[in-house]
Amino acid sequence: MTPTPPVLAARDLAAGHGRRTVVPALTLDVAPRTVTALVGPNGSGKSTLLMTLARVLPRHGGEVLLDGRPMGRHSSREIARRLGVLPQTAVVPVGATVRELVEQGRYPQRGPWAMLRPQDDAPLHRALELTGLSALAGRRLDTLSGGERQRAWIAMTLAQETGVLLLDEPTTYLDVRHQIDLMRLVEHLRDDHDITVVMVLHDLNQAARYADRIVALRDGRILADGPPAEVLTSATLQAAFDVDAVVLDDPVSGRPLFVAR
Ligand SMILES: Nc1ncnc2c1ncn2[C@@H]1O[C@H](COP(=O)(O)OP(=O)(O)OP(=O)(O)O)[C@@H](O)[C@H]1O
Ligand SMILES: [Mg+2]
Repeated sequence: MTPTPPVLAARDLAAGHGRRTVVPALTLDVAPRTVTALVGPNGSGKSTLLMTLARVLPRHGGEVLLDGRPMGRHSSREIARRLGVLPQTAVVPVGATVRELVEQGRYPQRGPWAMLRPQDDAPLHRALELTGLSALAGRRLDTLSGGERQRAWIAMTLAQETGVLLLDEPTTYLDVRHQIDLMRLVEHLRDDHDITVVMVLHDLNQAARYADRIVALRDGRILADGPPAEVLTSATLQAAFDVDAVVLDDPVSGRPLFVAR
């Protein structure tokens, strides 16, 4: 059996800001229809890596491949149609409503100057529905709570209908109900829509429960990489986070469950 080619791959990827390199040389293959969680301490380079994979930040070296082709050989529009990105912090457009923000997600599909078309209605409706925002569609973003606003950004990313989603801390600001809903939505997108997801998470138990694979970073390097049961160990938690923890078997999910000592 030939292994499935990766949807997204980093080859000796170096990434950073200005002259400062944060990720020196990282190699990673992301298989299609998988959920990968990127974890690691603050400042370990998770967002830098994710934004460089998304071509939001320029590379310092190495290569990023999308569907087996170097990023530079795809047009910006092709990338935007294939890859949806939720940044950790986003500037709220002044005065815009939820619907207007979510409509921005349709730009890559219809071109910068085109009007919305009737066929944009279904994905817009679906994105609002899936994030529980239908009733808030007409509200201005600057009048929303932090979690509602976060869901509006997620809806915009979903409206793009890309096969690959890169999400930076998508559950931040969300209450427990909406966190669970989001993680289930991610599972549903993988299982029923063949979507590949790479997301930064701080909640290790959430990562263990919902991700197929956990990649733990420290100082821009991969410290551990594999299924949750292999990565979420006392030794890795100590090495990655300097945390003394026990790892139990979650009786509900069968996945590892981390408890700090
Ligand atoms: N715009 C920037 N300009 C300069 N340095 C930056 C910039 N953004 C991040 N850095 C630095 O790059 C390093 C990695 O930051 P990054 O945001 O990738 O970390 P992270 O793992 O996402 O952390 P967090 O969990 O806090 O979001 C940090 O030392 C940070 O100070
Ligand atoms: Mg970050």
